[in-house]
Amino acid sequence: MNPEQNYPVKNNQTYSRREFTKLLLGGSALSLSALTYLNAAVYQSITSLNQKFIKDEAPDGIYWDAIRDHFLFQNGLIMMNNGTVGPMPKSVYNTLINTFKIQATNPFDFYNYFPKKKEEVRRKLALFINASPEEVAITRNTTEGMNFVANGLDLKPGDEVLMSSLEHPGGIHPWKLKEKRTGIIVKEVQIGVPPKNVNEIVNAFKNAITPKTKVISISHTVYITGLIAPIKELSELAHENGILLVADSAHGLGMLKLNMEELGADFFTSSPYKWLGAPTGRGLLYVKKEVQDTLWPTIATSGWDKYENAKRFETLGQRADPLTFALGEALDFQTRIGQDRIERRIKTLAAYLRQELNKISGIRLHVPVDPYLSGGLTAFSIKGIEPKKIVNYLMEKYNIVIRTIGRARDNTAGVRISTHIFTSFTHVDMVIEGIKHLASHR
Ligand SMILES: Cc1ncc(COP(=O)(O)O)c(C=O)c1O
Repeated sequence: MNPEQNYPVKNNQTYSRREFTKLLLGGSALSLSALTYLNAAVYQSITSLNQKFIKDEAPDGIYWDAIRDHFLFQNGLIMMNNGTVGPMPKSVYNTLINTFKIQATNPFDFYNYFPKKKEEVRRKLALFINASPEEVAITRNTTEGMNFVANGLDLKPGDEVLMSSLEHPGGIHPWKLKEKRTGIIVKEVQIGVPPKNVNEIVNAFKNAITPKTKVISISHTVYITGLIAPIKELSELAHENGILLVADSAHGLGMLKLNMEELGADFFTSSPYKWLGAPTGRGLLYVKKEVQDTLWPTIATSGWDKYENAKRFETLGQRADPLTFALGEALDFQTRIGQDRIERRIKTLAAYLRQELNKISGIRLHVPVDPYLSGGLTAFSIKGIEPKKIVNYLMEKYNIVIRTIGRARDNTAGVRISTHIFTSFTHVDMVIEGIKHLASHR
């Protein structure tokens, strides 16, 4: 474009490109400041609640009722299946819609201004997981992140990849594809449903390691049971043996306080639309600085061979940027509440649910009760009752959404319940009442 070109605007005035850009940015800046104003009310309310409730109130009450009001639930819907797709807070929805509006009404402004804002989101995301922005690639979801890792590592025919028996298809198939294409060997390590303790899991992997093992690829947040795998201990085991560790933490962002330095994984993937309140379409791929040179980018346009950081794994051309800004807003929302407080609330609700389920005859929990090995997902079964019947009953009687999960062949068939910050103890009590009814009418 010719920088000297003049741009005609109304009233027969002409503007230089710079003036024109400034003018347009003024319009979007107005929309953005209206948005900031809209969302500021949400954040002011959370800040004043935080000041009032320095310690958590227990069990339910003003604090968590107010947080629930910041979500956009349809009347009466009680969402207890966060694990598939979670709801968005209003502030995230506002950002999403308003930035799409700017794109729709003023694309010029959009493509000039928003790429800079994207780096802010990367920084927020890095801070949120205690990593460096250099280690954060913004992908579309966990599946994409897992594929980028499996596809991008140089492995030879015969090299072995260990994965657990409880992986999600999004974590299994990238390796299966590579196995078929390149002759690597994918091996499955059995994990108990539920495992007794950390050592049981670590020892199962230790016993499966051979001189050919190059990668351990494991779910951090096991979708099928609710187990939180001991990534820190598994990373230590992997590194003692010169092996890379890939963690599939699809549910981790927004459920657990994540700390990449502490967990020690080499690669870590997540889907923030589940527990963080972000829209679908944005994901996290963390690539530890020290291993970035071992990974080839899968998708390339300019930048793949220039960026000296994780940005080289996301050179994808134009993207749906409003999704990225909404992700930034979701990070702001949870940061205001506090990651410690969120994890504590989620685990307190889950502990209460499991304690009450354990009192009912015929129930088998598939998730460990140890809070180190579990989070907000609780999978279980009732002897003699079809999982689908449980899901239907809770929906029909209470308008509660849960889901069926698992498969008969490895004893994981059952249902899965999510307890998030918008869940109340009253909701858990409704679940328990429903389950007691079903268990006593077998
Ligand atoms: C453990 C695990 N990994 C991967 C995925 C795939 O996530 P996505 O569809 O966001 O890529 C899921 C989805 O539920 C999951 O639970």
